[in-house]
Amino acid sequence: MIELAPSILSANFARLAEQVKPALAGGATLLHVDVMDGHFVPNLTIGPPVVACLRKEVDVPLDVHLMIENPDLYIPAFVDAGANWISVHQEAVVHLYRTIELIRSHGVSPGVVLNPATPVLLLDDIIGLVDYVLIMSVNPGFGGQKFIPHSLTKIRQLVELRAARGLSFRIEVDGGVALDTVAEVVRAGAEILVAGNAVFGHGDARRNAEQLLEAARSATLQKA
Ligand code: DX5
Ligand code: ZN
Repeated sequence: MIELAPSILSANFARLAEQVKPALAGGATLLHVDVMDGHFVPNLTIGPPVVACLRKEVDVPLDVHLMIENPDLYIPAFVDAGANWISVHQEAVVHLYRTIELIRSHGVSPGVVLNPATPVLLLDDIIGLVDYVLIMSVNPGFGGQKFIPHSLTKIRQLVELRAARGLSFRIEVDGGVALDTVAEVVRAGAEILVAGNAVFGHGDARRNAEQLLEAARSATLQKA
């Protein structure tokens, strides 16, 4: 099932609820929350208090993307704030197995994220433990960047790996997903589409969400 996860990074932080509600009305079924620490990525964003405020405003699952070092220290606070999915970067975590188990032990869905330069094969020994894999299709840190086409190969590799191992993790893609890239992303096999700039960067968030989902669904039909 295709799902759209608008990234609040491109929304007006002073008007979050007001901005995300139209995106949900346009068919988005998750909200993607980008957490950055100024160390792992060269930007700073938000922490658990903003997640807790969002939790009171919307009913959809909150998909929290941790671009931070030492995520184990903060995972309990994000869980308490109302995160439903939490992903960590393969590159940021030393004991990935432990971190994934920690997320799951809190009753939250664990995901693992790969930077553009990290190969899918590095997930071989952890892939059976995660609910989703997030492929970064830009270098993490900022919204509104250009989609890196090699990400499509990585999505296809994940689809093959999942079939070969009889697994059921979902495939999420993040970065540069917009009307001109969404069809190829879906055809490659991504199911959860993160979009920041394409939803909140211009015009009406509701219409933008509707158009992205429409383009994604017609790409699925072509694939079948
Ligand atoms: C980038 C973040 C993304 C970002 C995507 O580090 O992880 O979620 O918001 O933004 P767009 O869709 O504008 O590329
Ligand atoms: Zn993200």
